[in-house]
Amino acid sequence: MAKTIYVLNGPNLNLLGTREPDIYGRQTLADVEKLCRDTAARFRLSAECRQTNREGELVDLIHEAGSKQAAGIIINAGAYSHTSIAIHDALVGVRIPTVEVHVSNVYARESFRHQSFIAKAAFATLCGFGIEGYGLAINGLAARIGAVAKA
Ligand code: DQA
Repeated sequence: MAKTIYVLNGPNLNLLGTREPDIYGRQTLADVEKLCRDTAARFRLSAECRQTNREGELVDLIHEAGSKQAAGIIINAGAYSHTSIAIHDALVGVRIPTVEVHVSNVYARESFRHQSFIAKAAFATLCGFGIEGYGLAINGLAARIGAVAKA
């Protein structure tokens, strides 16, 4: 059976496509999730894609990834990235290789976006590539966990 990676999107990412398109682009969460499923499939991985606007639900989803023994986590925790010790602790607790993604270049934006609690629990962070960052993150995760691309 294919190994599963969890792709977790946090608050307001359900609004991708209409939300501040100058910053986040015109592609939707459905586009993100298709990109993730297609990219994962190239490595014979399956992508379990979830989005929630609630912090505790993100914690629960990380625990679910842990109990299902997911091979990796890709997470864009949205604004909770900058505030949530609970999400940080959940990621550290499940010990699953994690990549943090942001659609926008958070370092070129307001200073309150420059700190990330998620980054401290992830082996890599990607930001500023638009939704392509999710695809790049899955490629990096696949390399990290030794998943080989189909010929
Ligand atoms: C974001 C960046 C965060 O600062 C912001 O709160 C978001 C989206 C991004 O993908 O660029 O909601 O995570």
